[in-house]
Amino acid sequence: MRTGLLIVGVFYLSGLLGQNVLTLHLDSSQVKIEKEIYGHFSEHLGTCIYEGIYVGEDSDIPNINGYRTDVVEALKELNVPVLRWPGGCFADTYHWKDGIGPKEDRPSIVNVFWGGVTEDNSFGTHEFLDFCELIGTEPYLSINVGSGTVQEARDWVEYVTSSNKSPMTDLRKKNGREEPWKVKFWGIGNENWGCGGDMNPDYYSNLFRHYSSYIKGDGFQKVICGPAGGDQHWTEEIMSTLQGKNNLAQGLSLHYYTLPTADWSAKGSSTDFGEEMWFKTLYNTMLIKDYIKEHLAIMEKYDPEGNIKLIVDEWGTWYDKLPGTKDGFLQQQNTLRDALVAGINLNIFNNHADKISMANIAQIVNVLQSVIMTRDAQMVKTPTYHVFNLYKVHQDAMLIPSEVITESYRYEDKSIPALTASASEKEELISITLTNSNPHKNLQVKCDIGRSIESISGRIVNSMDITDYNDFNKAEKVFIEAVEINQPKNNTFDLTIPAHSVLLIQLKLE
Ligand code: AHR
Repeated sequence: MRTGLLIVGVFYLSGLLGQNVLTLHLDSSQVKIEKEIYGHFSEHLGTCIYEGIYVGEDSDIPNINGYRTDVVEALKELNVPVLRWPGGCFADTYHWKDGIGPKEDRPSIVNVFWGGVTEDNSFGTHEFLDFCELIGTEPYLSINVGSGTVQEARDWVEYVTSSNKSPMTDLRKKNGREEPWKVKFWGIGNENWGCGGDMNPDYYSNLFRHYSSYIKGDGFQKVICGPAGGDQHWTEEIMSTLQGKNNLAQGLSLHYYTLPTADWSAKGSSTDFGEEMWFKTLYNTMLIKDYIKEHLAIMEKYDPEGNIKLIVDEWGTWYDKLPGTKDGFLQQQNTLRDALVAGINLNIFNNHADKISMANIAQIVNVLQSVIMTRDAQMVKTPTYHVFNLYKVHQDAMLIPSEVITESYRYEDKSIPALTASASEKEELISITLTNSNPHKNLQVKCDIGRSIESISGRIVNSMDITDYNDFNKAEKVFIEAVEINQPKNNTFDLTIPAHSVLLIQLKLE
């Protein structure tokens, strides 16, 4: 007890004195960081699918079977491990049979949630699953519970995954696909406490049990709709209704969006902000750490074996729409602030890799905190793209438990830790990712690895100003650069993490 207090005291004092220390526990590495933590989300919303991913074979924009070549190449480079589709709120209005067969016969529908635009269904099940194959990613399908039926869901599973003869598999073959696809991840409903039917938890979880018992297949990972942010009541009710039936779900979803303000009608600009909004955004994004802890504690109560993992299948920033863009299209810019949000969240997810098996940033192209933005034939990689590219070294690596002593970054009467970090090991290479939230001050950090180091290298995402972003027709401002790192002495090395940056350090041990 006394030793514990002493250690806590030393840590606290070091933080106060501005001594930042990162300690890695190399010998305690037992947990794999599932690559799916680096997942993405694509919804029929704004220009995410149409224009962003799919332009059709007749487009002047260079494409492979209708998929934008530039976007395909950029996503391949990122090693996108999993992609969620078709929503979001759209999923609970989506009838998959509208999106199969000859395109000219597919019905046009109204996209009621997102701008009331016409959805011509030219991008459907085949187009999505073929896209996943093209970029080498696992599909994650969201089943319509809000306005669908159990039969419709069952038919979709059979159409997509069965190799037996049946009316559904005959239909698939008639539509040009002989072999089934491999689909492991199935979400059963989306935000059913809100846009997915405005249900109460008791009603939804019984509905989930009903759907789940008909959605079966080898190695299926089924995801039950979980809470938004800190809603512990929803988690408690869902987990208690599942009790004893834990085999029906392998994942519980969590959605948390980072807004600079707490006001959905005035969230704040994605480009025009000062230190106050910078701080509030990073403060709010860090709240996810507490939410994760709280939900995991409830889950553990009802599922002590930990069979049900937490799946953060929507996360990222949400600002006011860009001036001049359509209502309901959720178009925003992506600045260095978003790079910090990405780095901080990914460090948090890595550090909970024993309990979090997937996370999907919202959304992949042109919507919310996207990694890619397109305009006609042009494409840019956003600061968030570069952070995902930097952090991809953690995919399927072994988590190295770490301890961080950090000074605070204070703004007015609130403060957050200036430094966040996570570390992993793969193929004898140790990767450490670090963020510095302080926009004014470089952080000096002592890193204790506990073993002799042979070589060290670093790469960074940073820029001059916190509001910098990558714009069409202009040289990139925010990108990945190599940085010089002080040579290690014995088992330690000293790092400088520049203000407002995200850093990757890689080490080889002797
Ligand atoms: O990502 C945009 C929307 O946010 C999704 O459709 C919904 O699930 C969430 O509210």
